[in-house]
This record gives sequence, C-alpha cells and structure tokens, in this order.
Amino acid sequence: LPRQTKRAKPAREFVLDELGRAGDAGALAHYADPAYYSETYAARREDVAYYVRLARLSGGPVLEYGVGNGRVALAVARAGVHVVGVDLSEPMLASLKSALAREPDAVRRRVRAVHGDMRRVRLRRRFPLVIAPFNVVLHLYARQDVEQFLARVRAHLAPRGRFVFDFSLPQPEELCRDPARSYGAPRIRHPTTSELVRYAERFEYDPLRQVLLVRMDFKPEDGGTPWSVPLTHRQFFPREVEALLHYAGFGDMVWTRDFSERPADEHADSIVVSCRARGSGRGARQR
Ligand SMILES: C[S@@+](CC[C@H](N)C(=O)[O-])C[C@H]1O[C@@H](n2cnc3c(N)ncnc32)[C@H](O)[C@@H]1O
Repeated sequence: LPRQTKRAKPAREFVLDELGRAGDAGALAHYADPAYYSETYAARREDVAYYVRLARLSGGPVLEYGVGNGRVALAVARAGVHVVGVDLSEPMLASLKSALAREPDAVRRRVRAVHGDMRRVRLRRRFPLVIAPFNVVLHLYARQDVEQFLARVRAHLAPRGRFVFDFSLPQPEELCRDPARSYGAPRIRHPTTSELVRYAERFEYDPLRQVLLVRMDFKPEDGGTPWSVPLTHRQFFPREVEALLHYAGFGDMVWTRDFSERPADEHADSIVVSCRARGSGRGARQR
C-alpha cells in the first residue's frame, strides 16, 4: 500500500519517557472525573453482562485489574460473586466507594478495592478468574510494562484459572489523522458542570512506540476557559498480543469478538482474549 503522504509534526507536549511511557497524565486524566466517565460509558452494557457471566461460571472470587469506579465490579458483586479490584486512579476508587455505600450490605461486603499499580500490586492470593475489562491493557505502554503486568496476572491465577481481557483493535483511520485537526464538535451538556460545551477530539499517533494520544477538547459555549483531557492508549496488533502472552507463559488462548462467542475477525471493535498460564494444572508448583 502507498505510504501516507505527509505526516504532520507531532505536537511538543506529547512526551514519552525512555521506556516509551506516555507519562501519568495520559493514563490518569480521563479518570479524574468519574461522573463524566460513568455518563459517557453508560450505554456500554454488553461487556458488563459478559464479565458477569464469566464471574458466575468461575464461582469467584474475581480479581479485576483497572476496576475503575466499579462499572463491572458492582454488577459482578450484585450477581453474588466476590471481587477484588485494583486501580491506580484515586478519584475512580473514591467514586466506587461512594457507589458501594449506596449498595446493600451483602453487595458491599463482596467488593474489596485496592489502590495500586497493576504492574506491581501483590495480593498474596490466587483467583480462578482474573479480568481486565475495557481496554485496561492499553495503559501498558512499553514491553516492560506488559511483562510486569503479565507476571502479576500469572502470580494471581489459581491452577487452571483464566485470564480474560478485551482490547480495541487499532483503527487505521485514527492512526493517520492530522494531529492539528479537530474531529467532531457536537454540543453536549457536561455531566459534572452542567454547562453547555463543544466537544472535539484530536488524534496523534507515535508509530514507533505504537501509542495513540487522544486529546478530548471541551470548549464552553458561554466563552469560559476551554480545557483538554489527554488519553494515551497503546495500540496492540493482535498477533503482537498473542506473542506477548505466549512469551509470558500463557496458552490455551481463545479469541472472540465484541463480547459474543463469535470468533474474532477483522470487523471486531473489541477483541476478547481468554487464556491460561501454561503448566498451571492442579499439580503445578505454586509460584
Ligand atoms: C477504561 S477504564 C476501565 C474501568 C473498568 N474496568 C470499566 O470497565 O469501567 C481503565 C482503568 O484502568 C485504570 N488504570 C490505568 N493504568 C493503571 C495501572 N497502571 N494500574 C492500575 N489501574 C490502572 C484507570 O485508572 C481506569 O480506571
């Protein structure tokens, strides 16, 4: 295929450290406003039903990496399954805590939230099901991040336990967008401030590090100060994910699409991967 003709120069503030990490801002800013997050993704329900089904089948307890404000974990707990959720965002965990306070005692007792980094947290227990729903793995920017995370997943999986996560496929049209151009700009009522704002997105892709920076721009209609929220997502191509899992000791991989039992194909928005640690049968040595 012919190469894209002219790639616009990356904007200066897109800084990556030597490991290719986009820095905390792009991993955390989008989660600093949990009310906005909840409103934005309120219609996303298929994945919740899917993970609840898995949790029920596993019998629990479930370890959820990137639990956020409990979009999935609360539904799992309401279905009678215990969840331990790990997240790096304090605002998201505070929002989860408030949501739990409104739940019946039985549900509240089934959720434990742990503040920490999914690459490092050690819980010293094992789970029959470990999940990372809704693009959590796209916050692993460099190979070292992925390796550290997968080592933690392995250490927390019970024998024969499954690790299930989903990720959005890279969208070629987003990767070659002009970073100087804004896309969209519908008028929305901001769920936190209630003000009318114009919402637009800008996309900037670093093709060497495979990191996409999405800038979400909010411009108040009343002339107030505009603001911008960065979100950085690592772009994983499927065969790359397969290799990373394989070399981290995972196997028995099942690839499906869009929270259905249909095999993954090129039309999928989200790929769901279910896998096991290799050699993790009942007789396997505990790590
Ligand atoms: C798209 S949200 C998904 C939240 C929840 N699983 C859901 O489905 O609504 C991604 C979550 O990953 C968390 N996260 C990002 N980097 C992380 C890290 N290094 N360790 C733990 N959590 C992280 C964010 O704070 C955010 O809550």
